[in-house]
Amino acid sequence: MKKILVTGGCGYIGGHTIVDLIDHGFEVISMDDLSRGSLRMLHGIEKIAKRPIKNYRVNLCDLEDTQAVFNENPDIVGIIHFAAYKSVPESVEQPLRYYSNNLDSLVNILRCARESGVKHFVFSSSCSVYGNAKELPVEESAPLQEAESPYARTKQIGEAICRDVTKVNRDFNVMLLRYFNPVGAHPSAIIGELQEKPENLVPVITQTAIGKRAEMNVFGSDYPTRDGSCVRDYIHVMDIANAHTKALQYMIEGKNEERCEVFNLGTGEGVTVLELINAFEKVSGQKLNYKMGGRRAGDVVEVYANNNKAKERLGWETKFDLDQMMDTAWRWEQEIKKEAERIQLN
Ligand code: WQD
Repeated sequence: MKKILVTGGCGYIGGHTIVDLIDHGFEVISMDDLSRGSLRMLHGIEKIAKRPIKNYRVNLCDLEDTQAVFNENPDIVGIIHFAAYKSVPESVEQPLRYYSNNLDSLVNILRCARESGVKHFVFSSSCSVYGNAKELPVEESAPLQEAESPYARTKQIGEAICRDVTKVNRDFNVMLLRYFNPVGAHPSAIIGELQEKPENLVPVITQTAIGKRAEMNVFGSDYPTRDGSCVRDYIHVMDIANAHTKALQYMIEGKNEERCEVFNLGTGEGVTVLELINAFEKVSGQKLNYKMGGRRAGDVVEVYANNNKAKERLGWETKFDLDQMMDTAWRWEQEIKKEAERIQLN
């Protein structure tokens, strides 16, 4: 089995990607310092995969500790690099923390990849590199607008660093995967997004529905969209995960036409906040307590993907629709509650 290193493997997208990689016959090790990821995610992956997964509790900003993992695993064939901070408001408050954490860790993992001869690298990027895209659906060739936050700028700079490394290393391949809005959970409800105080829409919805929050706000109802609320391209986390497996297979099989290629990971469908809330209420049977509030700083009005390039080049297709995204997110939130009740009883 080919061994893949997943950094940030105890996080939301990293954890679901490990499940998909194992489903497709890869051996996987994780590097995660658990500052944002959790052992609960790791144990959940092991339960689904029915095998132990080795996680190296290492801060990628420490070059020596990172190199030690490569010395212990000379048979790493590919790397998927998720480990980074990703809160937009936190990045606005603490820009230097974001630049040093997200960029020092990237430079270190790239340095180790080169030193150890790893040839295939997948970088976790984001649709936020587009800023307020001028044309929709947005294509990979769209010019990058001014980043809306330091977080988004670390993704723009990160992409440029990866591209520059491929220019001087003819045997090094990088896939830059730009996620739109990842949502939902593994259908088993054994793993999902774990955030105590989420800012993203879907965990806010499910926490409101389950009673963890008394109510929620819809940030803005006066946008120039079909119902006045913002439009996003919500995509199931397992579809995002499978795109990573496909991107690795694409490079390992030598199918990539350039050493650095960019792919949008979205469904291609724009959905408004109110449409998503309606889908949730329909699927869950729960009436949601929300009120229309003011706009949130930094929000783009509308963004959704042209995903044809990933479909054609990677042979990737999305398998989960909006109802399934809402259903898996809701069942995961209910599972969290049941577990909390079990812990209280013990
Ligand atoms: C979606 C919509 C909000 C909460 C973020 C990151 C992006 C990427 C995906 C990492 C917006 C509205 C939200 C609430 C609301 N992350 N909303 N009430 O901002 O599109 O993207 O996650 O790669 O980089 O910026 O996601 O879920 O925060 O917001 O009305 O309580 O939901 O205004 O229109 P966003 P989000």
